[in-house]
Amino acid sequence: MNETLQTIAQRKSCRSYRSEMIKDEELQAILKAGIQAPSAMNRQLCEIYAITNPSYIDELTEAIKKVSEERGEKKPDTYHFSYHAPILLIVSGPEYDSRRVEDGSCMLENIFLAATSLNIGSCWINQLRDTQDVDEVRNILNKMGIPHNHQVVGCASIGYVNQETPTKDKNENRIHIVK
Ligand SMILES: Cc1cc2nc3c(=O)[nH]c(=O)nc-3n(C[C@H](O)[C@H](O)[C@H](O)COP(=O)(O)O)c2cc1C
Repeated sequence: MNETLQTIAQRKSCRSYRSEMIKDEELQAILKAGIQAPSAMNRQLCEIYAITNPSYIDELTEAIKKVSEERGEKKPDTYHFSYHAPILLIVSGPEYDSRRVEDGSCMLENIFLAATSLNIGSCWINQLRDTQDVDEVRNILNKMGIPHNHQVVGCASIGYVNQETPTKDKNENRIHIVK
């Protein structure tokens, strides 16, 4: 197997991070891999916001927890929506862009693979996408400079791995070769 295929095979979601910040060159490499993704008609409308200020991430956690509980989803006291990772990458795109989910998802997968190749843990974090239009969450997005007309496609938590998660088997019956 070549290095790229090995990286793809090794990628797994990390849910326990060390608090230290990853190196700037590692973050830059991951962000560049993100924007290297394909985009519909090469419009390149989705953007990545790398949130490195822990107080923004903690504010988001509190707001998301409150909104989720108002919706009847009880969260534990220890709840932290991005598992205390030092960096949250928010991928968003303009709401008028009908291909932002596809474009943003390609960016996120590139981010996960680049992180894996650098021995950095990562995980798709969904809760912000589901709560972004509630005022108290949107106010925090505004403060972080995410444009008013952007919709969050998904997020990636990024950081050095504290505790390894078990690798999940992938169901190969989903592959079909049609001759
Ligand atoms: C669209 C999408 C949303 C996800 N949302 C979350 C999430 O909010 N929190 C989380 O811990 N994992 C989330 N995941 C990660 C999945 O749980 C994970 O990919 C799956 O369990 C398979 O494990 P693996 O990534 O280690 O192969 C999400 C993955 C995808 C593709």
